[in-house]
Amino acid sequence: MTLRGHGPRRAAALAHVGIIKDGALLVRDGLIAAVGTRVKIEGLPDAANAEKLDLGGRIMLPGFVDSHTHLIHAAGRAEEYEMKIAGASYEEIARKGGGILNSVKKLRAATTEALKQRARHALTQFAAYGTTTIEAKSGYGLDVASELETLRLHKELAAEQSLDIVSTFLGAHVVPAEYRGTSTGVNRYIALLTEKLIPEVAQEKLAEFCDVFCDRGAFTREQAKQILEAGKCHGLAPRLHAEQLTRTGAAQLAVRLGAASCDHLEQVNSSDIAALAKSRTVATLLPGCDFHLGLKKYAPARKLIDAGAIVALATDYNPGTSPTMSMPMILSLACSQLRMTPAEAVTAATINAAYALRREKRIGSLGVGKFADLAVFEVADYREIPYYFGMNTCWLTMKRGVVVHAANKTTI
Ligand code: NIG
Ligand code: FE
Repeated sequence: MTLRGHGPRRAAALAHVGIIKDGALLVRDGLIAAVGTRVKIEGLPDAANAEKLDLGGRIMLPGFVDSHTHLIHAAGRAEEYEMKIAGASYEEIARKGGGILNSVKKLRAATTEALKQRARHALTQFAAYGTTTIEAKSGYGLDVASELETLRLHKELAAEQSLDIVSTFLGAHVVPAEYRGTSTGVNRYIALLTEKLIPEVAQEKLAEFCDVFCDRGAFTREQAKQILEAGKCHGLAPRLHAEQLTRTGAAQLAVRLGAASCDHLEQVNSSDIAALAKSRTVATLLPGCDFHLGLKKYAPARKLIDAGAIVALATDYNPGTSPTMSMPMILSLACSQLRMTPAEAVTAATINAAYALRREKRIGSLGVGKFADLAVFEVADYREIPYYFGMNTCWLTMKRGVVVHAANKTTI
């Protein structure tokens, strides 16, 4: 599955995955040097001296691009999972000091080394499920020192690990406990973000994007606008957590700001869908959250696709709403719950997700000159990637020409 073609896919084009039967790739210096049928590639003069890796007729596609994760956190929140099963809602748990603030306490108490170790393990898992690039958000520190610590960890991990990490500043995840209770407190936190943290993050080049969780219990649309505009002034491109628990108008704000993406979208209405369809803001769907929280209302993927929005899929890996690193599981949910076809789901998890991270020229498809970022699945037909669920059929993952996961090391 090459996903060849230009840029992001909308509507019917979402299903165009560019299949080559009995295909092959030539990789040189971490980049794709040629792609085509095996007969053609094997006949190239450069192929004669190349090291050959026989994939045995398995399915190859571009490595997944997971465009929404909260990589750095100290621990899981299984105790809240049990409360949710017993009937407590995500918002009730948050009001009782659980939720994001629970993770903030844990992160502030953790050592940098412990955070790094947990993230390293997560990165190994991402690779094991076929992901070659992730976006990672801060947002469990919510004070100057721990937000900067999180963003610096993104950089350090990207340097030592083989996966690419695209860094997003999410200081506006929620208002931390010490600023809560009064509107002056909240305004002081927003001022800390816009006047101190954003300039410092930009100055140190610690993030490319700025994100805000715009929802009841987090930030209002007006506050989100103020924070994202400050980010833009400092060169941080906006993205938004939008219309997850309640409809706030955040999706249309994202469109007006020219945001790279707006993510979640369970509560969008028809005017939001129309606005997204006319825009270049990617509608990133995170069905793992609804699945984990046991919610029945998933984002209206079919309506978004049919209207012409650029739809992407991501895990939203985080301890509160989506504890998974598995893009194949997200594809399974996209098919069974969002009614996307397997081909649409693959496109949404590769080239469209690459576009959401503004990297569609380097990753997200198998084309000459692009990174040799590949995932190979031990299946007979690409539709079996989402068809099998809750198990890992990823056989090999390659990042810029280097094998970063191999299910059966003896044969490689
Ligand atoms: O994307 N919605 C906001 N942020 C996360 C949840 C974070 C948490 O509960 O720790 C999300 O779902
Ligand atoms: Fe999120």
